[in-house]
Amino acid sequence: MSLYKLKKYLIKDVIKQTNDNTMIRIQTNLNPIPGQFVQVSIPGIGEAPISSASYNKKELDLNFRVVGSVTEALNKFKKGDKVYLRGPYGNGYPMEKFKGQNLILVGGGCGVAPLRGIIEYIDKHREDYKHVELFFGFRTPSDVLFKNEVLEWSKRYNLNLSVDKAPEENLFHCPVGFVTQILERVNISNENSSVLMCGPPIMIDKSIEIIKQKGFTDEQIWVSLERHMKCCTGKCGHCMINGKYVCSDGPVFRYDEVKSIDE
Ligand SMILES: Cc1cc2nc3c(=O)[nH]c(=O)nc-3n(C[C@H](O)[C@H](O)[C@H](O)COP(=O)(O)OP(=O)(O)OC[C@H]3O[C@@H](n4cnc5c(N)ncnc54)[C@H](O)[C@@H]3O)c2cc1C
Ligand code: FES
Repeated sequence: MSLYKLKKYLIKDVIKQTNDNTMIRIQTNLNPIPGQFVQVSIPGIGEAPISSASYNKKELDLNFRVVGSVTEALNKFKKGDKVYLRGPYGNGYPMEKFKGQNLILVGGGCGVAPLRGIIEYIDKHREDYKHVELFFGFRTPSDVLFKNEVLEWSKRYNLNLSVDKAPEENLFHCPVGFVTQILERVNISNENSSVLMCGPPIMIDKSIEIIKQKGFTDEQIWVSLERHMKCCTGKCGHCMINGKYVCSDGPVFRYDEVKSIDE
């Protein structure tokens, strides 16, 4: 497809995840690699980049938090409606490069959605990766995304789920505290390992600090960056930071490539 060409896709399902997060399942064979994103386009309103939250040849899951005009409009879509997309864009996580390694995934809130795409990728290529350790943090138990899948993940992988606070019943019986506090406590080895992160900048900064104290180098850490975008093809310069286009050189960067960026 042309890089800018919009195409209409059928929404097969709408799954309310939390108060402010919704996932839509779209019928498409776009099959982005984990970490890539599509540009969701709502005529008369605008466009927003949303990461692939799945790894599937026939369907694409997009999880979004309602924050502004595009996501508000998208939140009104129903099963059977059609939505315009363009893409996929971006580099994604270099899953081939990680073959034979232990993988540590660190995600917070909405940032767990692209990491779900990585989990689905690993599920399909399980023999290519060694130990998989997940650190996923959410504000409260009701903010936990993909609630129905969390138990399944914990059977296949080492899941460290945490919530910042538990004002209501802690359905997951998980530790209460920031995901970074859990990361600090758990013993993980830097040997033959890569750390893949996605989440709010404050979580990423703190996680990097902890991971480095555990002996990981900058080259073992991969982060996904967010910038406001327009063309998504490395042409308009809207997303540029330190000479890099987040839309096409990224959004996934090895930490040594972006550590000098002041958020
Ligand atoms: C690669 C990538 C992947 C992403 N993946 C996801 C995802 O999977 N799920 C998800 O929910 N979100 C994702 N996002 C974030 C999402 O694209 C943005 O939040 C987007 O702006 C939402 O569009 P909107 O019209 O709903 O909100 P907007 O109207 O764009 O508002 C969003 C927020 O940004 C602020 N804002 C708007 N314009 C500007 C500006 N020019 N400068 C500074 N601040 C501004 C607003 O005040 C508001 O707080 C991703 C972003 C990137 C770059
Ligand atoms: S959004 Fe245009 S160059 Fe990245």
